Amino acid sequence: MLFETILRHGQHVRILDQTRLPLTWQSVTLTSLEEMAHAIRSMQVRGAPLIGASAAYGVALAMQADASDAGLTHALETLAATRPTAVNLHWALARMQTLLAPLAPAERSAAAWAEADQIRIEDIAANQAIGQHGLSILKSTLLESRTQRPLQSMTHCNAGALATCGWGTALAPVYAALQAGIAQHVWVSETRPRNQGYLTAAELAANQVPHTLIADNAAGLLLQQGKVDIVITGADRIAANGDTANKVGTYLKALAAREAGVPFYIAAPWSTIDLACPNGAAIPIEERSAEELRLATGLLADGEIASVRCIDATEAVCNPAFDITPAALITGIITERGVFAPGELV
Ligand code: MRU
Repeated sequence: MLFETILRHGQHVRILDQTRLPLTWQSVTLTSLEEMAHAIRSMQVRGAPLIGASAAYGVALAMQADASDAGLTHALETLAATRPTAVNLHWALARMQTLLAPLAPAERSAAAWAEADQIRIEDIAANQAIGQHGLSILKSTLLESRTQRPLQSMTHCNAGALATCGWGTALAPVYAALQAGIAQHVWVSETRPRNQGYLTAAELAANQVPHTLIADNAAGLLLQQGKVDIVITGADRIAANGDTANKVGTYLKALAAREAGVPFYIAAPWSTIDLACPNGAAIPIEERSAEELRLATGLLADGEIASVRCIDATEAVCNPAFDITPAALITGIITERGVFAPGELV
């Protein structure tokens, strides 16, 4: 089952509003640059590859309203300022700029829509290829595990269909294994504070993949107890030396996996690799609102988003949205071009 995370409808864009998932599946139509910038900033769309495609469509919406040089510059700057860590956003904007800047304003709107559509199509193809490369790794992991139980994988955050235009990145091998008839089970960590693990659980449920939701802090115990054969997560930016930024909590899983002797893989399209970034220390880490930690947020019965205060608004909070997993803890990086050792990217 695929989800229409983003789809062009003529001169508008329809997105699945991910702030209401997994309890309410509701699409929203976006008609302007400002609406797309808001959607990215507020995480109505999220996940590095989907953010990249969304930014490209944001430029297309902007070119429809004002295709002048000033309009193009404004669109690129507005979208670049929405979220800092996922490099796919900046990759997509650079691609749009390279295409559109040399064109006459009258040609820009049509060209921008076509390029955004192309980025979406390429993401779907990359997901498929990542799935096939990852499937080979899952098959050999299963052979090496020498147990009769279903293959036990663990993931973090949501790097599935909902984070992309297609099947996902970290979950693409899981879906490929499903199609190949491999018995499997996925450990899904909740991923506080935004709980993207709920999205992973929901999409695995929709695809009938056996899975279990765990608190983030349970991962170490499960790895220690030998209940996990392989960990696969997505990525938001991979530096030239293989250091990888992904949702906060990924690093702790990689440490526990190393201690337990469990392979730890990153799955991401090539557009997530930032060869201009030498190492993890150079990756900008998004610091999100303190209220994400002070409030518990969910949906009311009528589908409206509601928050409950759990701690005083004056409580000091540190809320980095991503962390860096050093290349030394990463077994391999699964891309649409094949599987690479972290040190092999350049
Ligand atoms: O903050 P988000 O939800 O946009 O986080 C990004 C992610 O979805 C994850 O970090 C994911 O593992 C990598 S993107 C497929």
